[in-house]
Amino acid sequence: MPRPADAREMLRMAQEFLERKGVEEARLDAELLVGHALGLDRLQLFCELERPISGKELDNARDLLVRRGRREPTAYVTGKREFYGRDFAVKSGVLIPRPETELLVDRGRELMKGRGREVAVADLGTGSGCLAVTLALELEDARVWGIDISGDAVELARENAQRFEAEVDFRVADGISGLANIVTERGAALDLIVSNPPYIEPAEAESLAPEVREYEPEIALFAPEGDPDHWLRALLEAGEGLLSNGGSILVELGHQQGERAIALAGDLGWSACLHKDLAGIERVFEGQPAAR
Ligand SMILES: C[S@@+](CC[C@H](N)C(=O)[O-])C[C@H]1O[C@@H](n2cnc3c(N)ncnc32)[C@H](O)[C@@H]1O
Repeated sequence: MPRPADAREMLRMAQEFLERKGVEEARLDAELLVGHALGLDRLQLFCELERPISGKELDNARDLLVRRGRREPTAYVTGKREFYGRDFAVKSGVLIPRPETELLVDRGRELMKGRGREVAVADLGTGSGCLAVTLALELEDARVWGIDISGDAVELARENAQRFEAEVDFRVADGISGLANIVTERGAALDLIVSNPPYIEPAEAESLAPEVREYEPEIALFAPEGDPDHWLRALLEAGEGLLSNGGSILVELGHQQGERAIALAGDLGWSACLHKDLAGIERVFEGQPAAR
């Protein structure tokens, strides 16, 4: 990149570079990356478009843009992604939080509202800790656990909890047995289990954007044994024994999973409903054991 006269020119050059590399939202990413290189957020950048660029800032911006040009996700390049209004730290090896996952927080808040006591909440497959940390901060009175099979994820989740002063007990643990251990240890069931589990079928891998396919961890993306319903089924089979009276599960779904999820819940004796995300996709499964 030749030396730009000011931030405005740098932004234009960055956008053109990213467009040539086939980056879809080249303008937005140019703003985020140039802003990051200059130590400015997007709003500050727009207020400082005439600002001259130092040699060091240019080198910084070049490095960031080259990484993005190789299709590394912007969030990994900048080391952060906003979730529910907070900037979560992210890093390679851990899934980047997605906006549609915020719907789990909205529903969790609704379900736990007005209980008049401390509620117990667990997040299965916590990743960056975005759900567990946000629920710990947004619920009135909650004790929150987050489990993940990935040590890198739990380390990052702990860092995020510390960053926002959220009290969450994060553990490296495996699936349903990890949840069962929490229940056994505390001697009482959970009021809410949330999970955004891996639900992509291996056959879909080729249709994923390079940013996802080449950079995000397989264990966070792909459903075990190629079965997109694996984690929902496991939670429905074990959930009744893990939940308190009036307890619920909230599980994020893939874009074609809704109908199957409702049928599965019916077969396994749960009352259930689905919630649509902003794109109109049935994104969140909500269930309560029907027998209670
Ligand atoms: C789709 S990511 C969700 C991450 C985070 N909750 C979010 O919404 O951004 C799924 C997470 O499940 C974790 N995971 C996969 N298999 C697991 C297992 N057997 N037990 C616990 N966690 C698991 C992955 O490491 C990954 O962090």
